[in-house]
Amino acid sequence: MTPSDVPSMGRRQFMNLLTFGTATGVALGALYPVANYFMPLRAGGGTGGTSAKDELGNPITSSSWLATHQAGDRSLVQGLKGDPTYLIVQDENAIGDFGINAICTHLGCVVPWDSGSNKYKCPCHGSQYDANGKVVRGPAPLSLALAHIDVKDDNVLVSQWTETDFRTGEKPWWT
Ligand code: FES
Repeated sequence: MTPSDVPSMGRRQFMNLLTFGTATGVALGALYPVANYFMPLRAGGGTGGTSAKDELGNPITSSSWLATHQAGDRSLVQGLKGDPTYLIVQDENAIGDFGINAICTHLGCVVPWDSGSNKYKCPCHGSQYDANGKVVRGPAPLSLALAHIDVKDDNVLVSQWTETDFRTGEKPWWT
């Protein structure tokens, strides 16, 4: 080896390293989805819930919601499949663990909350639902659908309610 070879050796080693690094990066990038598939679900990712969204489609955080909604508030968010769903702020300044789907079970109007009478009252044909969304006056044949609400890492997640409907003691009609 002559002294003039040293820089070229250095360049070759550098190029080898670069090639190896690129190949490794590509391989790791390709493996990432596979590795991710086999990794256990992270805490907070296991409920299968989808983020509740505001009217603009932005995910809601619990802290920002509670900063702008008082105890007793019932306001609509986009829930499962984008359905209008009431989040309920409880007295202890926490978001309640169930949401109420606002679609009337008669012909599908969105049912407003009437705080004066403590009921949901459908403007279309007069159906009424109590504070838990249980139907108390027809023509609506069924109570409003329920959804689970979970707060994980400040994210507000909505998921399907598949258990017994606590208002009727029956299987949920919406599953
Ligand atoms: Fe609500 Fe008819 S759609 S009462």
